[in-house]
Amino acid sequence: MLIPSPKWLRGDDIAASDITPRETYLSRRQLLALGAAGLAGPWAARQAFAQGAPGKLAKLPATANNAYLITDKRTPYQDVTTYNNFYEFGTDKSDPARNAGTLRPRPWQVAVEGLVKQPKTYDIDELLKLAPMEERVYRLRCVEGWSMVIPWIGYPLAELIRRVEPLPGAKFVQFITLADKKQMPGLGSGVLEWPYSEGLRMDEAMHPLALLTFGLYGEVLPNQNGAPVRMVLPWKYGFKSAKSIVKIRFVDKQPPTSWNIAAPNEYGFYSNVNPDVDHPRWSQATERRIGEVKGGGGFSALFAPKRKTLPFNGYGAQVASLYQGLDLRKNF
Ligand code: MTE
Repeated sequence: MLIPSPKWLRGDDIAASDITPRETYLSRRQLLALGAAGLAGPWAARQAFAQGAPGKLAKLPATANNAYLITDKRTPYQDVTTYNNFYEFGTDKSDPARNAGTLRPRPWQVAVEGLVKQPKTYDIDELLKLAPMEERVYRLRCVEGWSMVIPWIGYPLAELIRRVEPLPGAKFVQFITLADKKQMPGLGSGVLEWPYSEGLRMDEAMHPLALLTFGLYGEVLPNQNGAPVRMVLPWKYGFKSAKSIVKIRFVDKQPPTSWNIAAPNEYGFYSNVNPDVDHPRWSQATERRIGEVKGGGGFSALFAPKRKTLPFNGYGAQVASLYQGLDLRKNF
C-alpha cells in the first residue's frame, strides 16, 4: 500500500507558492496563462486582479441563518478560492485554482443509494431546490494546522436523508466523489485511492450542523471548492468535507475513507477537531488563520499569529453529546 507523504503533510517541505506573496505569484501565473492564450495585455492584468472578489459565478440566493453566525472575521474570497486542498487537481495549494477549470459541474447527478426506502438519482438542479438555502458562517479547520471562516450556502444534509427514508439497518453514510481522468489531472498521481471516499455515522450525518453545500460568498461553489455540491462538517478536520460528490450511500458498516486507507495511524474515521490529540507528526493545539496577515494564503499559513484550536473547532456545545462514552484518543 502506498503511504503518501505529500508536501502539505511535511512541515519541512514548503512550496514556492507558500512563501511568495500571493499577489506576486498569482498575477504572474495568471498572466502567463492568459499570455499563452494570446490574451495578455492591460485587459488581462485587470482580469487577473478582479478574481479577488465574488462576482464571476452564478448568484445563489440564500437566507442568513443567524443561529450559526460567528463573529470571527471572514477569510477573504481570494484566499478561500486560491488556497485549497483538492488532490484530484494536484497536491499544491495553488493547483486546484489553476487546474480545476476542466471540471464540468453541469450536467451533474448525485445517486442516493443503499439501505434506503426511496433510492433516487437526483439531478443537481433538483437537489438545489430540495430545501430552503441558508447562509451559514462556519470555521473550517484543516488537519494541517490552518483555518478559514467562510460564508457557505446550503441546507442540512438531514433534509435529504429524511426524504430517502433510511432503513433501520443503515448505520453509516458514505460520500463518494467524482473520479474522471478527463476532468481531473491529479487522478494519475496515485497519492490517494480514488474515488475520494468519506463517511459519517448516521447520527453525525443527521446533525443540523452537517451542511450539504452548494455555494459560498453568495455564489455557486467555484470548481476548486468542490462544485457543484460538497459537504461541510465544521467540527471535523477539513478532509471529512468531501468535494464534488456523485454518490451518497447508506450502509450498515463503517465505510472505508481515502485518508484512513492511505495512513490509518494518522487519519481516523472520526477526525473530530481535537487540540488534545496530536497528529503523530505535529501538534494540533494551535492553528493559523488564513488571510490574517498581508500576503494571504501560504504566507498566512506560515506567519499568521498562532491561535488556540478549540475542541470540536468551537462547536462542542452542539456536538459533544454525540460522542459521550467514546474514547476520543482511540477514536481519533
Ligand atoms: N474532497 C475531495 N474530493 N478531494 C480532496 O482532496 N480535500 C479535503 C476536503 N475535501 C479533498 C476534499 C481537505 S484536506 C480539505 S482541508 C478541504 O476539502 C478543503 O476545502 P476548501 O478547499 O474549500 O477549503
